[in-house]
Amino acid sequence: MNDAVGSPQTALVLGGTSEIALAAMDLLVARRCERVVLACRENGPAATTAAQRLRAAGANQVDIVTFDASDPTTHASAIDEAFGLLGDVDLVLMAFGVLGSQTHFDADPLAAAAAVTVNYTASVSCGLEVANRFRRQGHGTLVVISSVAGERARADNYVYGSSKAGLDAFSQGLGDALVGEGVRVMVVRPGFVHTRMTAGLKAAPFSTTADEVGARIVRGLESGADIVWAPPVLRWVFLVMRHLPRVVWRRVSARS
Ligand SMILES: NC(=O)c1ccc[n+]([C@@H]2O[C@H](COP(=O)([O-])OP(=O)(O)OC[C@H]3O[C@@H](n4cnc5c(N)ncnc54)[C@H](OP(=O)(O)O)[C@@H]3O)[C@@H](O)[C@H]2O)c1
Repeated sequence: MNDAVGSPQTALVLGGTSEIALAAMDLLVARRCERVVLACRENGPAATTAAQRLRAAGANQVDIVTFDASDPTTHASAIDEAFGLLGDVDLVLMAFGVLGSQTHFDADPLAAAAAVTVNYTASVSCGLEVANRFRRQGHGTLVVISSVAGERARADNYVYGSSKAGLDAFSQGLGDALVGEGVRVMVVRPGFVHTRMTAGLKAAPFSTTADEVGARIVRGLESGADIVWAPPVLRWVFLVMRHLPRVVWRRVSARS
């Protein structure tokens, strides 16, 4: 159960090596989130480093479970394992995702389908698995990392953008469906974040850092937000972007 001031005491991170997720967890661990499970693609050096980082930040217990987003048939057992380790789970942070390159996807539609499976299909499967367990507990918060890329698909990354649009719509619907059951879904929409996912790419306007997004996530949890924009100005930027005439949007989003 969340502690007396509403902070989570136990958390599961799906995509446990995500830089954004770890930045958020650093702050939550400092606020007494004592037990964490990191669900990672492999229990290797990156997972070990992530676990050490959270222990150094003050977590009493950090476990690693293996989790492959690309295979939905394995999600229930991975999530079961994590819930088994934590007992009662206050927070699930869904942070896995792949960006990929539109040029690559154009040449290799199977690679595009694989990316959509991770970004969208896996999020549906994991979101429903988590929601069912939260319903049984009678409480829990699911944080889903979406993206402003889902607000309007760009010609230069429309496979990624469309997968995030699907994820975002699913997460909002799930949150609405869970109203009254003690379960909350918070959608996070970052812009361009300087992490290894975007390494080597030209930064977009209003680019930010994993630490900034992590702080926004924690603030959103504390304020009871349904949707968190990171940085907040992107809410207004995309309000305009969404409604630009198509001909203007095509020019704005043309491949560079
Ligand atoms: N960086 C940005 O500009 C930005 C902007 C908006 C939204 N986002 C979203 O924020 C989330 C976190 O991204 P990040 O910036 O923190 O990048 P990141 O550090 O690269 O994190 C991505 C995470 O997804 C995991 N992952 C990828 N494929 C997986 C699979 N098949 N099974 C299990 N895990 C898998 C990665 O695991 P491995 O370590 O095994 O690769 C890693 O933990 C993603 O959903 C991303 O789409 C990022």
